Amino acid sequence: MVGLYAGRIRQYRKVLILEKYVINGATTLHGEVEISGAKNAAVAIIPAALMVDGVCCIENIPQISDTDMLLTILKELGAKIRYINKSTIEIDARNATYKDAPYDLMRKIRASYYLIGAMLGRFGSAKTTMPGGCNFGVRPIDQHIKGMTALGADVDVKNGFVYADARDGRLHGARIYLDKVSVGATMNIIIAAALAQGRTIIENAAREPHIVDLANFLNSMGADIRGAGTDTVKINGVDKLHGGSYAIIPDQIEAGTYMVAAAATGGEVLLKNVIPRHLECISAKLRETGTIVQENEDSVLVKGASTLRRVNVKTLPYPGFPTDMQPPMGTLLCLANGTSVITEGVYDNRFKYMNELRKMGAEVQVDGRVAVIEGGRRLTGALVQACDLRAGAAMVIAGMCAVGTTIVEDIHYIERGYEDFVGKLNALGADIKIVDFPDNDDSEKIISVV
Ligand code: UD1
Repeated sequence: MVGLYAGRIRQYRKVLILEKYVINGATTLHGEVEISGAKNAAVAIIPAALMVDGVCCIENIPQISDTDMLLTILKELGAKIRYINKSTIEIDARNATYKDAPYDLMRKIRASYYLIGAMLGRFGSAKTTMPGGCNFGVRPIDQHIKGMTALGADVDVKNGFVYADARDGRLHGARIYLDKVSVGATMNIIIAAALAQGRTIIENAAREPHIVDLANFLNSMGADIRGAGTDTVKINGVDKLHGGSYAIIPDQIEAGTYMVAAAATGGEVLLKNVIPRHLECISAKLRETGTIVQENEDSVLVKGASTLRRVNVKTLPYPGFPTDMQPPMGTLLCLANGTSVITEGVYDNRFKYMNELRKMGAEVQVDGRVAVIEGGRRLTGALVQACDLRAGAAMVIAGMCAVGTTIVEDIHYIERGYEDFVGKLNALGADIKIVDFPDNDDSEKIISVV
């Protein structure tokens, strides 16, 4: 094993073994799939549990490597973690202490930035690494730092670490205007301000469903947070948070990924355990392509069209079309008739995966934040890389639609955010195997030529 969480990479008799997905394509998805708890809510709620003076029972935690790593970090800080079942966990952080956390783990995940807010709230001091995670170009944390500084912390970034100290031991409420609509900064400030003295107002806040979920979690533990889900969030700091139980919302992006997979393969899939309102931005776009989307109380039925129509997509903060759905949608549009234009409205560099789709026969031009896709091409199996979490999911969708065999490398990215992706897709009729390849082996040998 190369490091605890190298994920899907291990060593056998001095040979590095890499696990890859081998996908036999031209499959159609049919059946039902249960959607797991929201990754982006869980990765904030787990660090926030550090501030609770009692036992938190959290249900619907997705089993993915990002949540595993955060739970390990909390354990290292002295929290007790008890599994009630595979998705329900009790966290008791009453005996947690301020000490060096496992920085090698922090460096691997974006959401480790929530430990800045949680440790400041709990201990008055925080030391974390600069966050890791997917590389979509420069991903600064200046708005997080602006928020913590406004709350009365001295924040210093040096040698790849973030050092933060509350000037007088405890944070103080403040009015903070975010220069960018940032999910992470909004949630981090909410966490830190929950135990600050006095009132905090965040203006130009992000409005994603997981922000509301974090606020609901903290409120159920005794916090006083109002307005989450709007662009102005008001937090009246409290002295203490108490234990309680909370169930995390279903994952909007996991659900969206299965919706696109059903549409792209021309299948029919019922997604269970979803909040259809959170999926509206995705459902509306899919309907434009000719896909049928039927919403029920807590499920959504997706029926693929015999011919997909072209659409234009622009990603925006919620309630706009989510940037995390851009790569799966990009794959679908390679199959749609006509020319589609995708404009990436959140990140500078989120089209790397288009190079991988080109290997499969896609016709795409990328210019900065705009991709022009000449659709209606037949995709053919190839050796491709999961460039990041959602780009990896896009490659898997492409592989299921392609003629022949596709091999997806760097699958540890995918397993950061999708619970049992292969198991769930195979249960719907996909043909995906996780196969060991010795490093430097010529994986392409097993790709059939079509
Ligand atoms: C979170 C999600 C990620 C999703 C993104 C947008 C987690 C762990 N990750 O990422 O899956 O793609 O929201 O929905 O929840 N920015 C700054 N300064 C900052 C913070 C952000 O300039 O201090 C910029 C970013 O570079 C980006 C934009 O603001 O261009 C939005 O980023 P943000 O919403 O903060 O994304 P993350 O919290 O990193």
